[in-house]
Amino acid sequence: MTPQTRPLTAAALSFSLTVGLLAGCGPRETTQPTPASPGASTSTASGGGGGAGKTFLIGMSQANKGEPWRQAMNDQIAAAAASHPELKVVFADAAQDNAKQVAQVENFLQQGISLLIISPNEAAPLTDVVAKAYSKGIPVILLDRKVKGDKYTMWIGADNPKIGQEAGKFAADWCKRNARTPCRVIELRGLEGSSPAKDRGDGFREGIKANPAVQIIASQNADWLREKAVSVSQAMLQANPNVDVVYAHNDPMAEAAFISAGSAHRDTGKMLFVGIDGLPTPDGGVVSVKAGRLGVTHVYPTGGKEAIDYAVQILEKKQTPPRAVVLPTVQVTKANADAVLKKYGGK
Ligand code: FRU
Repeated sequence: MTPQTRPLTAAALSFSLTVGLLAGCGPRETTQPTPASPGASTSTASGGGGGAGKTFLIGMSQANKGEPWRQAMNDQIAAAAASHPELKVVFADAAQDNAKQVAQVENFLQQGISLLIISPNEAAPLTDVVAKAYSKGIPVILLDRKVKGDKYTMWIGADNPKIGQEAGKFAADWCKRNARTPCRVIELRGLEGSSPAKDRGDGFREGIKANPAVQIIASQNADWLREKAVSVSQAMLQANPNVDVVYAHNDPMAEAAFISAGSAHRDTGKMLFVGIDGLPTPDGGVVSVKAGRLGVTHVYPTGGKEAIDYAVQILEKKQTPPRAVVLPTVQVTKANADAVLKKYGGK
């Protein structure tokens, strides 16, 4: 019944490419292990304790499958789980609706899942249902976005404050190199209640301190959505005739702003568009950097493969995982875009 406290080996976490989708490499375990869940026995309706012949039902609760990065996460989970016939993963798509996501997790609990993987749409509204699962003894892996408090087993994701800071430093350098004084930035933010939006915004503000000429002149939510970012960026550009840099919290919003700037007859060649996600797909951020639309993006690994690796550790090997696993990121510019594509199996 008592979970072991043996930490995971690096080998168990080694980087592997799965069907051309982003996986993290060399994750950093940041904190001491804690129990998988209070009194977790990993024994469930789907067969329980992890011996030979046992099967495990995993519920994967996705915030919004409509976004390419989230589809990549799901694909990566499915691909990693495919080599574990003892695992069955059921997916639910909350379509960016907190209440729907709560109901879907409740439904998973009814189904008797052995483990929950969840990428919460927004932190606060999902906190109680995640705590409920965890308190029932079901291990909970948070992917990418966080909830409030500490009632979950582990979190896997990249360092969003650091990514924001690197984006800010890049913008500060670009402004300097291009002698923009002042250097006017508009910001397209992710969904307000989702943890990466705050972290990426705060990190960026740290990063631009390197150059006092940089000013954030406008900041609006576009909720991570490309379509919404089209109209929001149009309005921002209309209100601000001089914009040097667009900082978007993800690549789809950065691409939207690039289109809006073109439609507004701005000289996009003289502007910097900054994004985050760096999917290695034909319509992803790395190719956009190669094509010169985005000036820079940042690889944001989905953690899908790692979630399955840890699910196996928890359910089958009965090992207690680390509390947080930080996946590595890479800043992508024209100089390394080809190398990044090659590394992540893109084209
Ligand atoms: C997709 C997404 C990604 C972003 C992540 C942050 O929903 O917006 O583009 O990097 O979520 O949680």
